[in-house]
Amino acid sequence: RKGGYEYFMLKEIHEQPEALRNTIAPRIVNGLPDFSEEGISDELLRNTKRIVITACGTAMHAGLVGRILIEKLTRIPVSVEIASEFRYANPILDENTLVITISQSGETADTLAALRLAKENGSMTLSIVNVKGSSIARESDFVLYTHAGPEIAVASTKAYTVQLSALYLFAFRFAFVKEKISQQKAQEYITLLEDTIDTVAYVLSYDTQIEAISQRLKSADDLFFIGRGLDYALSCEGSIKLKEITYIHSEAYAAGELKHGTISLITDNVPVIALATQADVYAKTISNVREVRSRGAKVILITNADVQVDASLCDHHIMLPPMEAEFTPFAAAVVLQYIAYYTAVARELNVDQPRNLAKSVTVE
Ligand code: BG6
Repeated sequence: RKGGYEYFMLKEIHEQPEALRNTIAPRIVNGLPDFSEEGISDELLRNTKRIVITACGTAMHAGLVGRILIEKLTRIPVSVEIASEFRYANPILDENTLVITISQSGETADTLAALRLAKENGSMTLSIVNVKGSSIARESDFVLYTHAGPEIAVASTKAYTVQLSALYLFAFRFAFVKEKISQQKAQEYITLLEDTIDTVAYVLSYDTQIEAISQRLKSADDLFFIGRGLDYALSCEGSIKLKEITYIHSEAYAAGELKHGTISLITDNVPVIALATQADVYAKTISNVREVRSRGAKVILITNADVQVDASLCDHHIMLPPMEAEFTPFAAAVVLQYIAYYTAVARELNVDQPRNLAKSVTVE
């Protein structure tokens, strides 16, 4: 069943190009994102004045990426809420708020409760769900299915990247319908989204490089992920993935926030995985890298292809293939999945079934 892979997690990492293709392709008509199959009308999108994304764990982290993209393209406010908090927070909702729930299983109790609360408060609900006919899918007004196929490993990989792709499709359609981007721009974005499938396939070949880096991470007690903007959203996901399966304590920090306390934890040889893929904040993140370097951190730096990285800046440099800044999350996700996976393997742990965690949590 594992198709020659040692663990389901590795198999599922490798299934990402196909899962992305299966999720993206059916939603493209004449080069534009199209949700008529899903019944998501332009009128609904036009009436949406605000979006709340709610989910748990990795699915919530996909929402963090979605928020940045949707707000950037449309200037419409988006908030991301942890479902277990949202459901008890007496949230402000109305009929012009679209509540997007994201869930691989479609059965997570907190996310389901958040969805029900949204409906009770008169908001329209859209779910991004992987499992057909699941509770969340059945109870939502609209469903945008992801087509990752079954995900077995507890640590979510392909479900996350297809959730990103669904959010990107949504963002492009939403921005187009709201007349925030032209038809030509929407088509350009779709082409770039399709191109990312090949980019993800290419990044799968980084396994040997990352396996070697993981050998140097396996004995760490604490580890930090830093980044800004999209890179911070990715840092949150990289950190949860790593701690879920390696049991190494890690934290995701917005790079600029480090100096407000946590930098005191950066001492000799503490690994810092720094994501610096966003041109607009590149110099800022690099200055944070220098700060941790000067305190002895072991730095693994992940950048785009179009920057020159001084060898003195880091211990390891992982360069993503050329791509537009908005799309780096897909490639960075694969790198971070590999880091978690190979570090767990190096620590001789059961990658697919980490202790105390369940694939789907249907109780509160
Ligand atoms: C957790 C899983 O319990 O639930 C995570 O361990 C997952 O991997 C989270 O991200 C949310 O699950 P789902 O099915 O709602 O996406």
